[in-house]
Amino acid sequence: MLKMFRLLLLVRAFDALGLVAAQSISSASSVPRITDPASLVIPFIGTTNGGHVFPGATIPHGMVKVGMDTDSPGNHAGYDGDPKFNATGFSQLHDSGTGGAVPLSNFKIWPIAQCSSFDKCATSLDGRKTLRKVLPNGLPDDFASPGYFSSNLSNSIRVELTSTRRAALHRYTFPAGTTHPRIVVDITNDGQRSSTNPVMTLDPDTAEVKGGASFAASFGPGRYSAFTCVNFKGEGFTLQKPTEYGVWLADFPVQGTTNLLQVYYGFIDELGALFTFPPAPSGPTTILVRVGVSFISSDQACTNAQEEIPDFDFDKVHAASRGLWNDVLGRVQVGTANVDMETVQLLYSSIYRTHISPADYTGENPKWNSTEPYFDSFYCNWDTYRTLYPLMSLHDPVMFSRIVRGLINIQKHEGWLPECRGATAMHFIQGGSNADPILGEFFVKFHDQAAALSVSPTDLYNALLADAEIQPPNWNLQGRQADVWKSLGYVPDDMFDAGGANTKQVSRTLEYAFDDFAISQVAKALGKTADQKKYAARAANFANVWNPNITVPGSPDIAGMMQPRFANGTFNFTDPRHCSIHDPAQATCFLNAANRDGFYEGSPIIYVPQDNAKLIQLQGGVDKFVERLNFIFDQEYFEATDEPSQQMPFMYHYANRPGLSTQRSRQVIAQLFNTSTNGLPGNDDSGAMGSYAAFYLAGLYPLPATRQFLLSSPFFPQISFFNPAFNSTTTIKANGFQGNPSTGTGGHVFIQSVTVNGKPYKSNCFLDWDVFTSGSVVELTLTDNINVTCGKGKDALPPSLSTGGYD
Ligand SMILES: *[C@@H]1O[C@H](CO)[C@@H](O)[C@H](O)[C@H]1NC(C)=O
Ligand SMILES: *[C@@H]1O[C@H](CO)[C@@H](O)[C@H](O)[C@H]1NC(C)=O
Ligand SMILES: *[C@@H]1O[C@H](CO)[C@@H](O)[C@H](O)[C@H]1NC(C)=O
Ligand SMILES: *[C@@H]1O[C@H](CO)[C@@H](O)[C@H](O)[C@H]1NC(C)=O
Ligand SMILES: *[C@@H]1O[C@H](CO)[C@@H](O)[C@H](O)[C@H]1NC(C)=O
Ligand SMILES: *[C@@H]1O[C@H](CO)[C@@H](O)[C@H](O)[C@H]1NC(C)=O
Ligand SMILES: *[C@@H]1O[C@H](CO)[C@@H](O)[C@H](O)[C@H]1NC(C)=O
Ligand SMILES: *[C@@H]1O[C@H](CO)[C@@H](O)[C@H](O)[C@H]1NC(C)=O
Ligand SMILES: *[C@@H]1O[C@H](CO)[C@@H](O)[C@H](O)[C@H]1NC(C)=O
Repeated sequence: MLKMFRLLLLVRAFDALGLVAAQSISSASSVPRITDPASLVIPFIGTTNGGHVFPGATIPHGMVKVGMDTDSPGNHAGYDGDPKFNATGFSQLHDSGTGGAVPLSNFKIWPIAQCSSFDKCATSLDGRKTLRKVLPNGLPDDFASPGYFSSNLSNSIRVELTSTRRAALHRYTFPAGTTHPRIVVDITNDGQRSSTNPVMTLDPDTAEVKGGASFAASFGPGRYSAFTCVNFKGEGFTLQKPTEYGVWLADFPVQGTTNLLQVYYGFIDELGALFTFPPAPSGPTTILVRVGVSFISSDQACTNAQEEIPDFDFDKVHAASRGLWNDVLGRVQVGTANVDMETVQLLYSSIYRTHISPADYTGENPKWNSTEPYFDSFYCNWDTYRTLYPLMSLHDPVMFSRIVRGLINIQKHEGWLPECRGATAMHFIQGGSNADPILGEFFVKFHDQAAALSVSPTDLYNALLADAEIQPPNWNLQGRQADVWKSLGYVPDDMFDAGGANTKQVSRTLEYAFDDFAISQVAKALGKTADQKKYAARAANFANVWNPNITVPGSPDIAGMMQPRFANGTFNFTDPRHCSIHDPAQATCFLNAANRDGFYEGSPIIYVPQDNAKLIQLQGGVDKFVERLNFIFDQEYFEATDEPSQQMPFMYHYANRPGLSTQRSRQVIAQLFNTSTNGLPGNDDSGAMGSYAAFYLAGLYPLPATRQFLLSSPFFPQISFFNPAFNSTTTIKANGFQGNPSTGTGGHVFIQSVTVNGKPYKSNCFLDWDVFTSGSVVELTLTDNINVTCGKGKDALPPSLSTGGYD
């Protein structure tokens, strides 16, 4: 009796603390913890073949991203992994995985071991070009890991880089016997040669350099100003004051000058400082270069550097950065039995790239003062809303909440949420007002934690309403073409009102519909029933651009397409093969005002995410829907590198054929993602592709701004996510895991049944967010039968809007 009573009490206590009970189950597993996940990250993935990935040193979401710049075409993140390209400098700010013009390759530092005299040193970008050493395997002698980058130049200078949020620390080791170690500071070469209004002074005693200039933005009409503050220190010896110093322009260093205005001549846009230092009294000379950066002033750049790297301790800065990386990466843990090391590296490398952008520019906003966080490098939300922020929901909610606060703060000051932004300037909109689903993603999942995370629900909702209801002066740069969207329910092909170029009308219709879906989800969480209904109705507007009579030439069964529509209700026509490899016009569908086909980076065969039940109905039923998905993959209409395609491998779930989703998504990984420098299809898009691959490897696919994740089997016997907002860990176990088929085809990988905390779950096809907040153990029973289903119950299929799924 007494014993039973005690047991009951214990059970009640466990019920109240469901999370503790769950954690004790998961910690009972014997999977060893990966304590140094940074060692599994390969930052060079995507550094060739147009990935435009930044492989240098940064902290998670750091403003400073210090790395090597090369003279390669497409050096958007500075670097190229092909050793035939020369190094040209080591600059402090970059973005990762972007298109546009080269962004933020500002303030290059360059070491010179040898020149005949100070005046003859080649200081210009072309003049200083130097190849890297090449390893026996043909790769350049470069190394990178989270928070650290190093390289050996062909002239035997060794370069090492690390950073804090707003400052970089460089370590240059000159070859033994160097008598005149020299260092160039380059103020103007930003990767685009766009600088105007350069300023710079140098101190002949301390060698401190302060300067800055105005530069062109990367993907928009704006400009920005950036400033730097550079200081030097010897490592292992006291660096004496420079023996020679001066301002240089192009290849003409002028000894003894201290102010750029003494030599500046407006037609030459390459300017900086050059110093000659006395070498170390014995052994090789190692010089530390501390580079502070600011978007406010060079004084602030000095303060940033002094506060963040007061003692020039390279190893300490590096260890602190690596600690931050291990903290965030270590929240995702996997079992590795029966898994290739490359798959484990691919997972952590993919997650790593989701924490490079957006960048924390708090304290560096030149446009207004605020105590709220300021984030930049949203490049672009159209790319990242689908998978990057849902991944953040799973393991990094505090960073997510700060980014959301930053977005809301931009709306408060500029009127609309940013869609695309870089270097403090507005960039061109690719789709809709795609910060809306990011705010939706946050609020739908964290509304109960909003106060604790300092996010104001009122401000968040008002920011969404501004996008939804108020037409901005230029919808190419912010907001939406809201008036016509409200009056017609689609963006017509033939309306030129004053707000922006009349392009991407069909894509924008689909995106606006999804944006409004996100708003309806937020309204629901806020208990605003009328608004929930209003925006859910607007979310259904995507069907307004569906023309049932269009077929793919040669495939009459594939009938019905999204199409451009005129204001009078009749349709224009865009070939359904458009923007695919079968497009007779071979259109690129990139951003281009002359492009009037109505589509952006996706053919008319691409869909909306929130209402697959309606799509199935429009397409003529489940069998037609599956037939079309098969057609899309088999005929290569699927384009993983363009985000609107990303969900398509998982769409079989809505036809109750989750085995096909598992197979397609695994084939995508097998064919397109690996740990080589070319192991990315196209640009990484600020981590969008990284988060996409990470979800596929985890056996999940997110529906942003909902409380559901589509479920497949992970590439690991188990994977867990620790969520600091709930102090809970959720573990997905693939019972009987036998490894991953190398081609992605077949295998013992299909889900037969699912339990959560030991109880049969309502669906084999998705998990509710509650599973993750409470810290659960999800157990999957696997089979090699691809004909598995979502289950039998009425809630087995993932929800869709038109079937009341989100009410
Ligand atoms: C690297 O620099 C050298 C010397 O300036 C030049 O001859 C060579 O063409 C450069 N390589 C590339 C790929 O531009
Ligand atoms: C560069 O050379 C040093 C030896 O001087 C070596 O330790 C290092 O591994 C080499 N490679 C890189 C990328 O640093
Ligand atoms: C922000 O505040 C500082 C200090 O008061 C002031 O110098 C600066 O001009 C302000 N910046 C803006 C953009 O208002
Ligand atoms: C599609 O074709 C049918 C039959 O010819 C016609 O009634 C209908 O108006 C067409 N719809 C559109 C949108 O053109
Ligand atoms: C609808 O508008 C288009 C384009 O402005 C025009 O070509 C077409 O003739 C119009 N159709 C009708 C029925 O008014
Ligand atoms: C119909 O679409 C074509 C290209 O797809 C475009 O060139 C044309 O301007 C559109 N017609 C109208 C009236 O907007
Ligand atoms: C890596 O993937 C790319 C495509 O994204 C492919 O071209 C390349 O052959 C793959 N490399 C290896 C080693 O599998
Ligand atoms: C988080 O949970 C662990 C046990 O799982 C507990 O030891 C720790 O105190 C909790 N932390 C907080 C802040 O509640
Ligand atoms: C799955 O279904 C297909 C089509 O009905 C059938 O050909 C195949 O044999 C089934 N596979 C298994 C493993 O039952």
